[in-house]
Amino acid sequence: MEKESFQFKFLILLLTCVASHSLVSTQPHCHEDERSALLEFKETFFTIKPPCCSSATSDVQPKIESWNASTGETQSDCCSWAGVECDEVSGHVIGLNLNCSCLWGEMYSNTSIFRLLHLRSLNLALNDFNCEIPPAIGNLSSLTNLNFSGSNFTGHIPRSLSNLTQLVHLDLSNNRDEIPSCGRHNHPKHLDRRFDFIKGEVPSFLGNLVQLKSLSLAGNLLNGQIPSSLGNLVQLTSLDLSLNNLTGKIPSSIGNLVQLTHLDLGYNQLVGEIPLSFQNLMELILLTLRSNQLSGKIPSLLGRLIQLIDIDISFNQFHGGIPSTIFQLQGLHTLNLNSNNLSGTIKLDRFSKAKNLQVLGLSSNKLSLIVETNITHKYNALGLGSCNLNGFPEFLQDQDELFFLDLSYNSISGQVPEWFLNVSTTELRHLNLSGNFLTSFAQDPVIFKWEKLVVIDLRFNKLQGSVPIPAPKMWYYFISNNRFSGEISPLICHLSSIQMIDLSYNNLTGFLPQCLSNLNGTLEVMSLQSNKFIGKIPNLNGNFCALVMIDLSYNKLLGPLPRSLRYCDNLEFLNFGNNQIMDVFPSWLSSLRRLKVLILRSNRFHGIIRKPADGIEFFALQIIDLSQNIFLKNSSRYIGNAIKRAWIFSSDATFHYSMRVIAKGIQMNYLKIQGYLALIDLSSNNFSGAIPEAIGSLKQIVLLNLSNNILSGPLPPFLAKLTNLEALDLSQNQLSGEIPQELTQLNSLSVFNISYNSLTGPIPQSQQFATSENNSYKGNLGLCGTPLSRKCRDTKAPSSPTSKEDQDSGTAMELEWKIVCMGYASGLVIGVVLGNCLITRRRVQRLAKNFGRRKQRRRR
Ligand SMILES: *[C@@H]1O[C@H](CO)[C@@H](O)[C@H](O)[C@H]1NC(C)=O
Ligand SMILES: *[C@@H]1O[C@H](CO)[C@@H](O)[C@H](O)[C@H]1NC(C)=O
Ligand SMILES: *[C@@H]1O[C@H](CO)[C@@H](O)[C@H](O)[C@H]1NC(C)=O
Ligand SMILES: *[C@@H]1O[C@H](CO)[C@@H](O)[C@H](O)[C@H]1NC(C)=O
Ligand SMILES: *[C@@H]1O[C@H](CO)[C@@H](O)[C@H](O)[C@H]1NC(C)=O
Ligand SMILES: *[C@@H]1O[C@H](CO)[C@@H](O)[C@H](O)[C@H]1NC(C)=O
Ligand SMILES: *[C@@H]1O[C@H](CO)[C@@H](O)[C@H](O)[C@H]1NC(C)=O
Ligand SMILES: *[C@@H]1O[C@H](CO)[C@@H](O)[C@H](O)[C@H]1NC(C)=O
Ligand SMILES: *[C@@H]1O[C@H](CO)[C@@H](O)[C@H](O)[C@H]1NC(C)=O
Ligand SMILES: *[C@@H]1O[C@H](CO)[C@@H](O)[C@H](O)[C@H]1NC(C)=O
Ligand SMILES: *[C@@H]1O[C@H](CO)[C@@H](O)[C@H](O)[C@H]1NC(C)=O
Repeated sequence: MEKESFQFKFLILLLTCVASHSLVSTQPHCHEDERSALLEFKETFFTIKPPCCSSATSDVQPKIESWNASTGETQSDCCSWAGVECDEVSGHVIGLNLNCSCLWGEMYSNTSIFRLLHLRSLNLALNDFNCEIPPAIGNLSSLTNLNFSGSNFTGHIPRSLSNLTQLVHLDLSNNRDEIPSCGRHNHPKHLDRRFDFIKGEVPSFLGNLVQLKSLSLAGNLLNGQIPSSLGNLVQLTSLDLSLNNLTGKIPSSIGNLVQLTHLDLGYNQLVGEIPLSFQNLMELILLTLRSNQLSGKIPSLLGRLIQLIDIDISFNQFHGGIPSTIFQLQGLHTLNLNSNNLSGTIKLDRFSKAKNLQVLGLSSNKLSLIVETNITHKYNALGLGSCNLNGFPEFLQDQDELFFLDLSYNSISGQVPEWFLNVSTTELRHLNLSGNFLTSFAQDPVIFKWEKLVVIDLRFNKLQGSVPIPAPKMWYYFISNNRFSGEISPLICHLSSIQMIDLSYNNLTGFLPQCLSNLNGTLEVMSLQSNKFIGKIPNLNGNFCALVMIDLSYNKLLGPLPRSLRYCDNLEFLNFGNNQIMDVFPSWLSSLRRLKVLILRSNRFHGIIRKPADGIEFFALQIIDLSQNIFLKNSSRYIGNAIKRAWIFSSDATFHYSMRVIAKGIQMNYLKIQGYLALIDLSSNNFSGAIPEAIGSLKQIVLLNLSNNILSGPLPPFLAKLTNLEALDLSQNQLSGEIPQELTQLNSLSVFNISYNSLTGPIPQSQQFATSENNSYKGNLGLCGTPLSRKCRDTKAPSSPTSKEDQDSGTAMELEWKIVCMGYASGLVIGVVLGNCLITRRRVQRLAKNFGRRKQRRRR
C-alpha cells in the first residue's frame, strides 16, 4: 500500500519533471515531513564557530548552516543539502552525515532526526552532545551504519539499540572526555557536564545484532566483562573494545568470530590466558592485547594464524619463552612483546624469517638476546632494552631505516663507539640508552648527527664530560643521573620544540644561561635539580610560558625568583628548595590556578608573608614547604586558608596529580600520579602559640613534624584524630600540660618524640607509648612513668583544663599558621622527573622510621 503510493508519487514527479523541463534531474524532491524534521534539527542545536574539530578548517561552513528554509527551487529540496542523502527512487532521507559539523547541544528522544524513519546511515561523529544516547535511536530500525564516535555521548548504551538488527557498522568509540578529538572551543552557554563518557557494561544484547561487520566501543569507560554473546556476531571483521576498563577473561566465544581481521582489546584490565579458541581466527591480520593483565604463556597457536601482520601483546604478564611457531609468521610487520615476563635465550636472527618485520619490541622482559654479527635485516623500530646485551650490537652499523632504538637497561659499558653516532643518521627520532654503564662519547662535547632526533634518554649511566649538544628539533632531552660537568651550553636555548629537559643529578656548574629567557614557549618540564649551578636565576620563558613543572632544587642559586613565572598559567609543580635564594615570599605566584606543589624550603626567604593586593589566593595548592627559611612569624593567614581549602578539595585523600605533559607518548612516563598529602614539616621555624586545631582535620597525614619551634600550650586531644599518623615529632618546643590519654588511639604511630618541652604527668601506658624510647621523652622535667626511670606519684594530678585565655590565643594563632608540607606519598613514581618530592608509600614508612633517629642524632 505504502509502496504503491510512493511509486505513484514518483511517477507523477517524473512526469512533471520531464514535461516542464527536460534538463532537470529525475531525482525526486524530499518529503515535506523530513524536510521540516531536518530544519527543526538545525534549530535545536547550536553550531560552534569552526574550527570546532581537527579537520574542519575555519573557512568551512558547518554543514547545517547551508540548510535553507526558504522556498527557492533548490534550497527547499533537502535532498540537495550538504550531508543529506535521499533514496533515488522514494525520495526519503536515507543518509545523514554530519560528522564534525560543530554541533553542540543536547539530544533527546523527541529530537526531530528520530522521525527520519528511513535512515540507513547516521553519522554524527565528532560533535558535542554531552547527553545520553536517546532511546529513540531504536526507532530507526533501517539503520545499517551508525557512527556516534567522538561526540561526547555519556551514560549507558541504550537497550533500544537491540532494535537495530540491520546494523552493519556500529561505532560508539571515543565518547570520553579525556580524548577530545576536536579542538577546544567556548560553548555558547555553560552547561554542567554530567558523566562525560559512555560507561556501564558492554550490553550482552549487542550479540543480537548479527549483521554487524564492525563494532567499535573503544575509548569509553566501559567496565565489567566482555559478554560472551559477542561470539554470535559471526559476520564481524573488526572488533575494537580497546581503551576501556574491561575486566575478567577474554570469552572463548570470541574464537567463533572466524571472519575477524582486526581484534583490538588493548588498554583494559583483562586477565587470564589467550583462549585456545583463537586458533579459529584464521583471517586475523591485527591482534592487539596491549596493556592488560593477561598471563600464561604466549600460545603457540598464534603461529598458525598465518595472515597476522601486526601482533602487539606488550605490557602484560606473559611468561615463558617466545614460541618458535611465531617465527613461521612470514607476513609479520610488527611484533611487540615489550614489558612482559618472558624469559629464555633467543637469537635475533630467527626474527629475520619474517622478511617484512619492521617493528620488533623485546624490551623489559627477562630475555637474553644473542645478536649475530651477520644480520642484514633492516628494522624501523627495535626495542632491545633489558636484553642482557653487553655491547652495542654491530649489525646496527648498517641500519639506516631505524627511527626508534631502545638499548636501555643492558650492561653496555665504556665509551659509546664512534660508529654508533652514525647509525641511521637521517631517520632516528627516538634513542634510549638509559640504565647502562656508559662512561663517555668519543667527542667532547658530542654533537649528535641525528637530524630528526626528538627524544634522547641517556639517564642513569656514568657519562662524564660536557653536556651533549641536543639536536635542534628535540622534544625530550633526558641526561639526568650521570656525571656530566661544566656549564650548560647556550645552544640549549635554540631548541625550537623542546618540551622536557632533565639535567638533574649531574655535576653541572656555572651560571644558568641568561638566554633561557628566550627559550621557545614549548617547554613544559625543566628539571635541573641536584647540580652545582650558581648565580642568579634567569627570567624563564619570558615570552610565553608553558611550564608545568620546574625543579631547580639542590643547587647554589641566589635568586630572586624570576617574576616571569607568574605568567606560567599551567604551572603545577615548583621546587626551588635547598638553594641560597634571597627573596620575599612570592605572593605573586598565588594567581597560578593550577599550582599544587610549592617548595621553597631551606633558602633565605624572609619577611612577612602577606596576602597579595589583588586578593587572589593559591587556588589549588596542596603541598607547600617553606621550612628552614627566615620568614617572620607574623605571616598572614592566607596560606593557612589556602591549604585548608585545598584539603577540603582533596578530602577523599586521593588527588590525581596528573602530569599530562609527561603522558605524551613515551613509555617511561605515567598518565597519572596518584598521591595524597602525607607529610607536614613545620620544623625549624619560629612558630609560636598553640598547635592549631586545623591540623586535626588533616586526617591523611602520615608524618607531622612541628619540632624546633616555640609552640606553647597543651598537647591538644584533637591530634588523636590523625589516625594515619606514623610519626609525630613535637620536640624542642615549649609545650606544657599532660599527654592526653586520647593519643593512645593513634594505632599506626611508630615514632613519637616530645622531648625538650615542659610536659608533665604520667606517660600513657599503651603499647606504642611504652615501646617508644627513653629519648622520646627526655628534657621534660615533669614527665614520669615508663620508659622514664622516674616513677609517678600515686596522686595523679588531674589534667588542668585549658584556660579561657589559652583557647583564645589558640584560635587567633590558628589563622596565622603557615602549614608546611615537605612531600607527599604516591602510588606511582614518576622517577627523576619529579625527583625528591615524589616518594612512594614505602619510602614514607622508611622516612617515618628514620626520622626519629635522625632527630636524636642531631640532638646528641
Ligand atoms: C536561503 O535562500 C535564500 C533565497 O534563495 C537566500 O537569499 C539565502 O541566502 C539562503 N540562505 C542560505 C543560508 O543559504
Ligand atoms: C566525515 O565523513 C566523511 C564520509 O564518511 C569522510 O570522508 C570524512 O573524512 C569524515 N570527516 C571526518 C572529520 O572524520
Ligand atoms: C524534548 O524533551 C526534552 C527532555 O525531555 C524537553 O526538555 C524538551 O522541552 C522537549 N522538546 C520539545 C520540543 O518537546
Ligand atoms: C567534548 O567535550 C570536551 C569538553 O568537555 C570538549 O573539549 C570537546 O571539544 C568535546 N568534543 C567535541 C567533538 O566537541
Ligand atoms: C520512538 O521511540 C520511542 C521510545 O523509545 C517511542 O515512545 C516513540 O513513539 C517512537 N517514535 C516513533 C515516531 O516511532
Ligand atoms: C523497537 O521497534 C519496534 C517496532 O519495530 C517499536 O515498536 C519499539 O518501540 C522499538 N523499541 C524501542 C525501544 O525503540
Ligand atoms: C566514524 O567516524 C569517525 C570520525 O569520522 C571515523 O574515524 C570512523 O572511522 C568512523 N567509523 C566507521 C565505522 O566508519
Ligand atoms: C576500573 O575498574 C577497576 C576494577 O573494577 C576499578 O577499581 C576502577 O576504579 C575502574 N576505573 C575507573 C576509571 O572506573
Ligand atoms: C648468520 O650466520 C648463521 C651461522 O653462522 C647462519 O645460520 C645464518 O643463516 C646467517 N644469517 C644470515 C642472515 O646470513
Ligand atoms: C664533580 O666535579 C668536580 C670538579 O668540578 C670533581 O672534583 C668531582 O669529582 C665531580 N664529581 C663527580 C661525582 O663526578
Ligand atoms: C619557536 O621557535 C620557532 C623556530 O625557531 C619560531 O618560529 C617560533 O616563533 C618560536 N616560538 C616562540 C613562542 O618563541
